[in-house]
Amino acid sequence: MKLKNFTTKAHAFFNLLPADWQEVIVPHWDAIKSTTLVYVIVEQKQIVAGGLVFSKCPPDMMYYEKQAKKLFKKDNIYLGFIYVMTPYRGRNLGSLWLTKIKELYPKQGLWLAIEDQSLDRFYIKNGFEHIDTILTPDQQQEFVYAYKPIPKVL
Ligand SMILES: CC(C)(COP(=O)(O)OP(=O)(O)OC[C@H]1O[C@@H](n2cnc3c(N)ncnc32)[C@H](O)[C@@H]1OP(=O)(O)O)[C@@H](O)C(=O)NCCC(=O)NCCS
Repeated sequence: MKLKNFTTKAHAFFNLLPADWQEVIVPHWDAIKSTTLVYVIVEQKQIVAGGLVFSKCPPDMMYYEKQAKKLFKKDNIYLGFIYVMTPYRGRNLGSLWLTKIKELYPKQGLWLAIEDQSLDRFYIKNGFEHIDTILTPDQQQEFVYAYKPIPKVL
């Protein structure tokens, strides 16, 4: 299965996201589309999984902008809005999406933030580690995870 760059067709992916996710990304899309990429996995002409790759602080993480800047300076990229369509979950597509992103950016570190701590297992399984815990402006805890590529020795 291939990863497809859907940046120019971003809305085809956004339309499949839950309404509360759409609210935080769609209104900002025009302003951030020059620094954000959309990658999807298509199965039988349908988007089954996807996510966004940011090279600048995402609009829903502005309270973390200072720390984000440091992470971006070290050539890391931020992953957000990772979503597998409900009937396709548990079939490794989320992990496949992450694997394909790692292949596409072999030298770059990846980082992301989650609200739902039960996702810890999914990201640990995919080689990420918990690097920070944030308190959001509305006093919610968020957990920052990062993945570092292993440098080639030969
Ligand atoms: C999280 C998500 C991307 C995982 O994709 P997926 O294709 O279902 O995951 P995979 O099949 O690759 O991996 C499944 C593993 O992750 C774990 N996992 C997946 N989603 C989980 C969840 N919501 N809570 C707890 N564990 C979860 C499973 O326990 C499973 O572990 P196992 O293989 O050891 O049994 C998908 O469930 C999803 O889109 N969820 C809703 C949106 C979301 O929460 N996105 C993440 C935002 S940061």
